[in-house]
Amino acid sequence: MGLSEEQREPMAELILSSSSNTQGAYFGDMDGSSSLHRLPQFLPLFQNLSLGIAEYAEELGVDLSFFDVHVSRSWGTGLTGGASIAPHRHWHSHLSAVYYLEIPPDGGQITFAFEDIQSEFMPGLFAQENVANGVLTRNDVRHRAKVPFQVRKDMLLIFPSKTAHEVASNPSEDKRVSVAIDILLTLKDAAGHEQFIPPVSQWSKLNIPSGSVDD
Ligand SMILES: [Fe+2]
Repeated sequence: MGLSEEQREPMAELILSSSSNTQGAYFGDMDGSSSLHRLPQFLPLFQNLSLGIAEYAEELGVDLSFFDVHVSRSWGTGLTGGASIAPHRHWHSHLSAVYYLEIPPDGGQITFAFEDIQSEFMPGLFAQENVANGVLTRNDVRHRAKVPFQVRKDMLLIFPSKTAHEVASNPSEDKRVSVAIDILLTLKDAAGHEQFIPPVSQWSKLNIPSGSVDD
């Protein structure tokens, strides 16, 4: 992403101090710190995130001028002492991003998992035995249901929130520190669109009665 050490340090410091009493894995969203995007230390990250999202959409041929793009939550994660993150998805957002503040050597790569390998046109075609017997002429990342991705410090990773992912254990005593970000897109103007979420300004909140509603 190209942030300087001076820009990264206050962000890492805040997450490290929040997680200092936690052994193993720390997740800021679980201790109520899920709005890092509202803190001044994180401004450089979120300013650059906009560029990253724009590039991501352009790569897919998506015109973002139809949408308002919201950060719905963002939180720090710290992993140390063999801790890992089990497979999960971010069900309640559209895009997710992770920015890496500290990555120790062998510090836990992220792995994406796919339920179905679309290009496996015959059942069992991409089984490892078919590399050994010559049916497959090479190992190819497109043959895999799980794709590991080696992350590095200062990298911004953007992916669909529905994609299952997990983080390998970080055996180091040095923390693996990252910022996770969930992003929701709403239409700027709902006219003419059957898909997508209408503008937030058109929503209204229901007053749900509290207590028993039996009478
Ligand atoms: Fe995640």
